Amino acid sequence: MSNARIRIAIFASGSGTNAEAIIHRSLQSDAAFTVACVISNRKDAGALKRAALFNIPAEYCNPADFATETQYVEALQQLLDQYGVQMIVLAGYLRKIPPAIIERYRGRIFNIHPALLPKFGGKGMYGRRVHQAVLQAGETETGITIHEVTEEYDAGPILLQKSIPIDKEDTPERLEMRIKAIEHQIYPEFIQQKAMEFQKLQTVQ
Ligand code: GRF
Repeated sequence: MSNARIRIAIFASGSGTNAEAIIHRSLQSDAAFTVACVISNRKDAGALKRAALFNIPAEYCNPADFATETQYVEALQQLLDQYGVQMIVLAGYLRKIPPAIIERYRGRIFNIHPALLPKFGGKGMYGRRVHQAVLQAGETETGITIHEVTEEYDAGPILLQKSIPIDKEDTPERLEMRIKAIEHQIYPEFIQQKAMEFQKLQTVQ
């Protein structure tokens, strides 16, 4: 029987507002998970600064710094082992996760995308660009998608979606703000639910 909190790693390249919302959730007394570390491919990522403010290990690991993919994977595995990571959560992470890591965390690695996949996803579709594309396409609604991470960008099984109507006043910036506000509520709760599921699995093992 184990009610130990599930140890998660957050991967983030950007400002880290989602990472911070997840950290806040992890600090509530009923949290089923703890944020073991935040990993970024960018030294100056806001996400790393936010993690440090909470005394959460903030690690920089950039594929560009390694001569081969194998060396990069080894370094990443080492970090994940060092922090005993059981589940990975991508929050604005702009690098592809190596297949070996996906394989190892199959079913325990998730991403959030700021649109209703399968529309407006894939390589190059991130951040404000997504909202720009949505507005240009004349969509009447947009939203968020949480999906499992598989070898193909933004194409893993969809686990949760929430849609919102587009307002006349929406600009890419406004939409980004509205969407992030929803992400900050839904993603931490999704992670909490998943962590509870994994806790149960550990109990029966
Ligand atoms: C979010 O909108 C998320 O959906 C996308 O990247 C953005 C990250 O924002 N994958 P932040 O760094 O958490 O503020």
